[in-house]
Amino acid sequence: MLKKSFALVLVGATLVLTACSGGADAAEGEGEGKRSVGIAMPTTSSTRWLSDGASMVDLFEAAGYTTDLQYGEDDVDSQVSQIRGMIEDGVSLLVVAAIDGQQLTGVLQQAEDAQIPVIAYDRLVVGSEAVDYYASFDNLEVGRLQAQHLVDALVPDPASPKTIELFAGSPDDNNSYAFLDGAMEVLQPHLDSGALVVRSGQTSMDQISTERWDGATAASRLESVLAANYSGTRLDAVLSPYDGMSRAIIAALQAHGYGSSQPLPVVTGQDAELESVRSIIAGEQSQTVFKDTRELARATVQMSEAVLAGEEPVTTTVSDNDVKEVPADLLEPVGVDASNVQQVLVDSGYYTAEQLAG
Ligand code: GAL
Repeated sequence: MLKKSFALVLVGATLVLTACSGGADAAEGEGEGKRSVGIAMPTTSSTRWLSDGASMVDLFEAAGYTTDLQYGEDDVDSQVSQIRGMIEDGVSLLVVAAIDGQQLTGVLQQAEDAQIPVIAYDRLVVGSEAVDYYASFDNLEVGRLQAQHLVDALVPDPASPKTIELFAGSPDDNNSYAFLDGAMEVLQPHLDSGALVVRSGQTSMDQISTERWDGATAASRLESVLAANYSGTRLDAVLSPYDGMSRAIIAALQAHGYGSSQPLPVVTGQDAELESVRSIIAGEQSQTVFKDTRELARATVQMSEAVLAGEEPVTTTVSDNDVKEVPADLLEPVGVDASNVQQVLVDSGYYTAEQLAG
């Protein structure tokens, strides 16, 4: 609470400075035809980013903007040149979900020089002064929700230890650290007490990270871990930070007889991707974290409109990107398992019952 109030004071101070960097200037362009927004997304290989992109295009266009939506397909150089192209085309504002949050400093400096405001979307761009605002979710809470699901399912007890293996996201994505930190807040006491045991001994980011969130990379690490540590011993749980990895992990587990000769471990996830929600309903993946991309898009469009009108957008906290405190709006993630799929994902209209039925 205290931390939050302190953060809010900082936000107030920062807003006065940052709201001017581009917003007022961009507002001058009014009346010269429709203003355009450049939206740089990381990849079309995950349905969540398709949904983020589509929601933003709809909302920006409904608000009278033209949009230039581009996907970098997990290639940093492509994303940099896409953003550079948007700057050269004279967009009024950039929304960026970075492929590698550390490698946009140069191109975003170009945006700043051209007085184009930049909103970091979902993933914080680090090391850059040019990031004006950040719209995302409470990413520590994402990790806590995943770990709490594991704890609730396993009911850790030092008298009968359970085995767990940990997976983290891409090491160049700032979110990966927040997800893992949040999860470890919940898991560490049970690891310390011996109620949960990581038989591989792999718990640090450099051991458990998964370049580009790639499912095949996660599955291949799991194969090695199973071969080296689990012959004759059961794996009870897997902390997986993202649905695309969770499904690949589950497929690798199934190839080892889990789900047939013995039950699957409890496997977490994130993004409520359609395939994973179907897997949860089928009793395979155990959990996911729903981050409503429609809400994030809405918050981002509202933020953008305020910036372009030279006003202060609504922010709720600040996020440190190593060189500045970026004013941020962080939305609440929601844990989803078989018990609340209907309520959270169908009743909210995110999926139809027909989609989930497959
Ligand atoms: C993260 C994002 C997650 C997930 C992951 C892989 O940055 O916060 O929701 O989508 O990337 O795409």
